[in-house]
Amino acid sequence: MRKLCRETPHCRLFYVGTSYEGRVMHAVKFSQSSSASPKRGIWIDAGIHAREWLAPATAMHLIHTFAVAIRRNDRQLLSMLDDYDWYFMPCINPDGYEYSRNHDRLWRKTRSRHHGNQECIGVDSNRNWDFHWMEIGASFDPCSSIYAGPYAFSEPETRAVRDFLLTYRSTLVAYISFHSYGQFLLHPWGYTSDLPEDHEKLMFVLDNVAAVIQSTTGKQYTRGSSTNVLYEAAGGSDDWAKAVAGIPFSFTFELRDHGLHGFLVPEDEIEESGREISRTSLFE
Ligand code: ARG
Ligand code: ZN
Repeated sequence: MRKLCRETPHCRLFYVGTSYEGRVMHAVKFSQSSSASPKRGIWIDAGIHAREWLAPATAMHLIHTFAVAIRRNDRQLLSMLDDYDWYFMPCINPDGYEYSRNHDRLWRKTRSRHHGNQECIGVDSNRNWDFHWMEIGASFDPCSSIYAGPYAFSEPETRAVRDFLLTYRSTLVAYISFHSYGQFLLHPWGYTSDLPEDHEKLMFVLDNVAAVIQSTTGKQYTRGSSTNVLYEAAGGSDDWAKAVAGIPFSFTFELRDHGLHGFLVPEDEIEESGREISRTSLFE
């Protein structure tokens, strides 16, 4: 990512934070300076859950698509950069990701220890955000895979992303978090079955995204609020981004597949996943 960005105009790598185990966490920003600044920003992250490997891979594919298009002077993409700054952070749980690569393919959480040297390690970073934290669909048991942490924002990784979003909140119009799997395009809320008052606007965007995906690869993605489509789960990044940071278009995209391979989506689907998602340039 560092090299790709260095060799691409309008791309800048920046530091977001440091993980529990000391990994440096980076994101990239694609932006074109012009008089019309500050621009509206779109944030995309992936990999909050370690085992969902298709998510960071798809985010990397998107970054690659942007970079190639910029180098080719692609007019459509450059016009997107006229309107928006794009931020990508493909791996927001690097410790968990590394652990899932080397030790336990189905690891989900971070790798922090909050209770001395006891056996159960890690927090579900998507239950760790401070909005209706621990109210529902989360556990206070450190051994649970949906352990919300000893307190909200106990994880350095969620704090780092939080601080970025708070710094840029006034310009950000969209927060999108990639997960896998299930093929769902979700809008808040995750903590209640009530709908946000602007849910029709959110659904309008998601319906468009789904239509673009379908016309690209034929894949069907289900849309709706995460509680109503999936289950109640409080403390998620999307709810927090909308309610606390005030980012209006906040979404969770559950990428491929439907369950045939689940978390183990084969490598050769990365390309297609990247293609169907990158064609969904929002707000057109
Ligand atoms: N599968 C995701 C999770 O369990 C869905 C998150 C949806 N958003 C939410 N705030 N519950 O983390
Ligand atoms: Zn997930």
